[in-house]
Amino acid sequence: MARLAVIGSTGSIGRQTLEVVRALPNRLQVVALAAGNNIELLQEQALEFRPLYLYAERGEKELYHALGEAGLSCNWARPEEMATAPEVDLVMVATAGGAGLLPTMAALKARKVVALANKEVLVMAGHLVNAALSHGGEVRPVDSEHSAIWQCLWGEAPDKISRLILTASGGPFRDRPLHELAKVTPQEALAHPTWQMGPKVTVDSATLINKGFECLEARWLFQVPLERIHVVMHKESIVHSLVEFCDGSVKAQLSMPDMRLPIQLALTYPERLTGVSLPPLDLAQVGCLHFGPVDWERYPCLALALEAGKKGGTYPAVLAAADEVAVQMFLEGHIGFTDIRYILEEVLEAHEGVPEPDLGQVLEAEAWAKAWAMAWVRSKG
Ligand SMILES: NC(=O)c1ccc[n+]([C@@H]2O[C@H](COP(=O)([O-])OP(=O)(O)OC[C@H]3O[C@@H](n4cnc5c(N)ncnc54)[C@H](OP(=O)(O)O)[C@@H]3O)[C@@H](O)[C@H]2O)c1
Repeated sequence: MARLAVIGSTGSIGRQTLEVVRALPNRLQVVALAAGNNIELLQEQALEFRPLYLYAERGEKELYHALGEAGLSCNWARPEEMATAPEVDLVMVATAGGAGLLPTMAALKARKVVALANKEVLVMAGHLVNAALSHGGEVRPVDSEHSAIWQCLWGEAPDKISRLILTASGGPFRDRPLHELAKVTPQEALAHPTWQMGPKVTVDSATLINKGFECLEARWLFQVPLERIHVVMHKESIVHSLVEFCDGSVKAQLSMPDMRLPIQLALTYPERLTGVSLPPLDLAQVGCLHFGPVDWERYPCLALALEAGKKGGTYPAVLAAADEVAVQMFLEGHIGFTDIRYILEEVLEAHEGVPEPDLGQVLEAEAWAKAWAMAWVRSKG
């Protein structure tokens, strides 16, 4: 029985994590839940799973009161505290943006296993996460692309990898004429053709910066230099990623697009269990799988992420933080879709990077970039 903390339990990955727990009641037990604003759902989850620890970024008092009336008392703990609690073995980090950084670092220092969905954590501070692994903790990938690569590498020697190839669906605007992109609405950006995800990662999929973030993540997870990490467009999201080995052999992992599969694997590794019931992949019915090169003119944010990764230091943290603000501002209607790219380009130009930053310097760079991006938005409004 693994005792689980779910940080970001009310989001897309968090809710699917709890579905996996429901399907495997003899293997997984929820002992901590943390969320942001959605206290109605957090309350429901708390009443169902009866965790020892609970956290909500806002609405703490109302939640305490409501749970008390229902006869449930939980200990209030910040995510980075619950991630280190002695009753916790496994921490699912399912927040978006920079919110997962402190819980991940704390969990690894406390030698916990981290199932890492929050991709910005490795983007912002991959070198620190790697260093924290020396305490004896473990990181298991949750993102479908990294889970695919992870699975392809089981039983393989790391020095035999020649390339990692990440697949990208291209998001909702892959066929939209370029001149129309400035006018697309948040509703259109949120209509992803293959995945149902939270708003931040869905917009990141539309700009394709998410694939750049995933390349940076892959570099830290699998210790492969960025030059040997490639992206190929694949609109069906069935081949989740591929690994090419030194003899030219290529392994891929395929399944229908459903995040419950990589989530379950990260929670039950090294075992593969039946667990949640997933739609089977019927290739005869799918018929055709399509692959193609990246259209760099359509997706300038992918190039920006790779550039920030090559520069290293605080540049990736600055890019991730500015993107968090830019996406939020786009969703709230303050800027256009293509402004996201201009904010990111300009924040990278304005930043004076710190090489090999410590955690304090990463957090400082994050705060600087968020303030810089907000100032950019205000200057246009
Ligand atoms: N969704 C997917 O299919 C998918 C696939 C691959 C990778 N990912 C990655 O997984 C991460 C999560 O994605 P998502 O789609 O699940 O995002 P999401 O739906 O926006 O969920 C984010 C979660 O974080 C919570 N949260 C926000 N601030 C918090 C804080 N300070 N402390 C604790 N919890 C906080 C939110 O709470 P409230 O809702 O209560 O405010 C929500 O539960 C992202 O990094 C994304 O890139 C997602």
